[in-house]
Amino acid sequence: MKYENFLVVGGSGFVGRHLVAALAARGARVTVPTRRRERAKHLILLPTVDVIEADVRDSRALAGLAAGRDAVVNLVGILHSRRARPGEEGPNHYGPQFAQAHVELAQSVVAACREAGVSRLLHMSALGAGARAPSEYLRSKGIGEQLVLAADDLAATVFRPSVIFGPEDRFLNLFAQLAALLPVLALGSPGARFQPVYVGDVVRACIAALESREAAGKRYDLCGPREYTLRELLDYVCRITGRRRLIVGLPDSLSYLQAWMMEFLPVALLTRDNYASMQVPSVCDCAFPFGIQPVALEAAAPAWLAPAGPRERYPQLRWRARR
Ligand SMILES: NC(=O)c1ccc[n+]([C@@H]2O[C@H](COP(=O)([O-])OP(=O)(O)OC[C@H]3O[C@@H](n4cnc5c(N)ncnc54)[C@H](OP(=O)(O)O)[C@@H]3O)[C@@H](O)[C@H]2O)c1
Repeated sequence: MKYENFLVVGGSGFVGRHLVAALAARGARVTVPTRRRERAKHLILLPTVDVIEADVRDSRALAGLAAGRDAVVNLVGILHSRRARPGEEGPNHYGPQFAQAHVELAQSVVAACREAGVSRLLHMSALGAGARAPSEYLRSKGIGEQLVLAADDLAATVFRPSVIFGPEDRFLNLFAQLAALLPVLALGSPGARFQPVYVGDVVRACIAALESREAAGKRYDLCGPREYTLRELLDYVCRITGRRRLIVGLPDSLSYLQAWMMEFLPVALLTRDNYASMQVPSVCDCAFPFGIQPVALEAAAPAWLAPAGPRERYPQLRWRARR
């Protein structure tokens, strides 16, 4: 089935920039609503892409934006929220920002699709999401994906990726920044398991799903070809960036304490809820859907992580030579 006109909610973010560029490269018209146009300036130059400042929490406004589209894609997601306080906990217990971004917005997107008569919906959830998961992030994501799949009058597809890596990710790049700054890296939850998936593969899966009738009403886990512990990933980033660093894996109690203390930093890096999310292995044993062969981390990540010029590569060469 050929779709040519899309609304991509949350399209200004990391996955969105790749998906929107890929859709535009196929000649599709794409509209990206954002709370701050400045955040989506990388998309403004694409000829068939419209970036619109809008409040997508307003379901009427969202229905107006959805009108006339062939499909809507919802990529909205956040990693941090104020924790639910006693008394304001809903039946599934998650903080207000998680409720708003993962549940209420998913509800608004479904309502907007119905009002605008758009029947095709692609929704991005997360691996491990579920109403009984141990973290507020995963519980709210789980409720969001449930309500999307319950809308059986829509042809909805849900994706559940493990951690996604790519040139602008906030995972491997964050490790690279920390390794550049700190001689010793105290790593919480070093044994947490991930199966990182390349952003290009996530985009290919989105496009394949939009073109496939069979994908309607289904949910797919998206994982890369190999499983790693968090420690192995940090070690890999240090190696590829040429930083010889001492990595100290923290035991469980100290990992929790570290996450708690980091909640007091002005920038949200790690929270107790992130710690709770990492208790669920973000891995899967199913094949990547649509016959796509997922790219290995080692094949893609050096393109942006490894230093390029001889001067930048000097520490990497020294590291390799153990000098
Ligand atoms: N990246 C990963 O490793 C990963 C792993 C598993 C699942 N996922 C899921 O994949 C999706 C895309 O992830 P990403 O890494 O591209 O995220 P991202 O870079 O943080 O982008 C998220 C987008 O959501 C929008 N947004 C956030 N909070 C919002 C709110 N309260 N109301 C309206 N819009 C809001 C932002 O739009 P504006 O700020 O422009 O308004 C932004 O464009 C998310 O659903 C995420 O949970 C990602």
